[in-house]
Amino acid sequence: MIEFIKKLPKAELHLHIEGSLEPELMFKLAKKNQIKIPYNSIEDIKKAYNFSNLQSFLDIYYAGANVLITKDDFYSLTWEYILKCKENNIIHTEIFFDPQIHTSRGISFKTVICGIKEALEDARNKFGITSNIIMCFLRHLSEDEAFKTLEESLLFKDSIIGVGLDSSEIGNPPSKFERVFKKASELGFKLVAHAGEEAEVSYIYEALDLLKIQRIDHGVQSIKSNKLLERLKEEQIPLTVCPNSNIELKVFDNYKQHNIKKLLDLGLNVTVNSDDPAYFKGYLNQNFINLYNNLELNKEDIVKLVKNSFYSSFISEKLKIEYIKRVDEIFENKRIKNARYY
Ligand code: HPA
Ligand code: ZN
Repeated sequence: MIEFIKKLPKAELHLHIEGSLEPELMFKLAKKNQIKIPYNSIEDIKKAYNFSNLQSFLDIYYAGANVLITKDDFYSLTWEYILKCKENNIIHTEIFFDPQIHTSRGISFKTVICGIKEALEDARNKFGITSNIIMCFLRHLSEDEAFKTLEESLLFKDSIIGVGLDSSEIGNPPSKFERVFKKASELGFKLVAHAGEEAEVSYIYEALDLLKIQRIDHGVQSIKSNKLLERLKEEQIPLTVCPNSNIELKVFDNYKQHNIKKLLDLGLNVTVNSDDPAYFKGYLNQNFINLYNNLELNKEDIVKLVKNSFYSSFISEKLKIEYIKRVDEIFENKRIKNARYY
């Protein structure tokens, strides 16, 4: 089964590029750019990755991102993630970036987006990996600052497919950004938002009804409302679930408690993603493997989760069909092979 997971072509829809900064690159860039980080060694960094909730992670995640200064740094960051895509058989990825983490430190929007974009272009040319970029607003900052960021992004609009909402969820409900999302929609951006990662179901309702999003990032708290579950099933709204992240940030006590299999069995459109893989003990395959080891997912479940990701992505219908065919080729092959042996 683990070999099967590795072989399947996959899409990733919930990945913060700043969350793919591995300790080795963080250390290297800190040295190069003469940025002080509160760690003496790579081992020290790894030891600090012990989180009690979302906020305890975010504090460390923002501190780590301080080492990213030049366009080349953003290129290296993104390229390292692309190499992981190759390793994990991810053939399409939709990556988040947080421009405000960088512009607030005096790094230009252009530096950030150009570094990321160049690496993604190379990924397409060298490996055939396709991608989209989604810009997230930090929800702990003001509506005004989000509007400023939206304005700044317009120069690079062709490179950004959509907008999202991340950072500290509790106390910063989607309603705070209703007008920003309305404007982004009018400008032609696709819309997604983190909702129901830690906060109650009202945040998911607000994201759907006020922000009018097309995908919910996380959304695992939806399990607390049967009415909401029915709606998510009925409308097949994608949930970009991040199992390792949920375990590391103590959204669930342990892997056996994770509700993704329940959501899948209820008929919801759930997908598997790595969120911040450098911080949460593994990339996409490791998330699938952990689910398989703990929740008794079968081959059909895994294929369903993988297909959901392609169907829920922002690629053309034509490309979706092409990618789904590639999934089926591996799935069918496997079944024929098994039939021969049993
Ligand atoms: N939740 C909210 N904000 C984030 C996350 C997350 O899981 N990862 C990076 N920023
Ligand atoms: Zn996230």
